[in-house]
Amino acid sequence: MPKQHRGPRAQKICISSGKGGVGKTSFAVNLATSLAGKQKRVLLIDGDLGLANVDVLLGLNVRHTVRENIEEGRELAGLLLPVPAGFHLLPATSGVPEMANLSFEEQRELTEALDAIMDRFDFVLIDTAAGIGDSVLWFNAWADTNVVIASPDPTSMADAYALIKVLVARHQKKTFHLVTNSVTSRKEGEEIFAGLSGVAAKFLRVTANHLGALPHDATVVRAIRSRRPFVLEAPASKVSLAVMQIADKILTL
Ligand SMILES: Nc1ncnc2c1ncn2[C@@H]1O[C@H](COP(=O)(O)OP(=O)(O)OP(=O)(O)O)[C@@H](O)[C@H]1O
Ligand SMILES: [Mg+2]
Repeated sequence: MPKQHRGPRAQKICISSGKGGVGKTSFAVNLATSLAGKQKRVLLIDGDLGLANVDVLLGLNVRHTVRENIEEGRELAGLLLPVPAGFHLLPATSGVPEMANLSFEEQRELTEALDAIMDRFDFVLIDTAAGIGDSVLWFNAWADTNVVIASPDPTSMADAYALIKVLVARHQKKTFHLVTNSVTSRKEGEEIFAGLSGVAAKFLRVTANHLGALPHDATVVRAIRSRRPFVLEAPASKVSLAVMQIADKILTL
């Protein structure tokens, strides 16, 4: 694990979508890999405490869970896994109860444990569960930067809006960064962004920024099968170039 240093604390970026299966995990893993490729110290938190996700995607074998660590009072740092793609992962494994099932005290302990390792990283990315359950809202409230992914599917746009709405109402979030995924053209990505940012500005009075559009690309599915980030498997593919461009933008946020 990177040594502790006295530099600025990590920028915490939460990746959510409302609807499931929109591409959160694929994007989070590949963004983490891209930022690590730019010599940034990156921690990816698998915030889907209910289901194993990132570890499966990366072909890792995880033995301990965050909850076990909290229960046994162990250091959270001991759970961080160095991943061959160049970043660290805080995994979650199957069967771990949802965040909602953590007591208030356990939630506080988790926050303290996470905050204690923040200065070892430049970026902390959180790949959340689908929906707008407690864990999703909790990680979004904790983060500095809120990234919402939407696909051309109208239900995805509606769910992204619902997520933004609840984050505005309950956590006073004012700025959102949108990623459009599985689009067939850049124009389609722009249209999804324009629709979502338009209603968010009109009804919620919040601003949204389009981080980028990721094309629908068979490379994504192939990379998942081979359990390697697509930015490493196929760095010249359109989807990889799009994620790398987003990584560049994130460095300027
Ligand atoms: N740009 C893309 N092009 C093609 N297929 C994609 C793309 N992005 C995602 N997919 C497909 O969508 C599936 C779901 O992606 P992923 O697991 O990243 O979504 P998720 O939002 O994390 O899902 P969940 O809500 O279940 O956590 C992937 O298995 C992949 O097949
Ligand atoms: Mg996922």
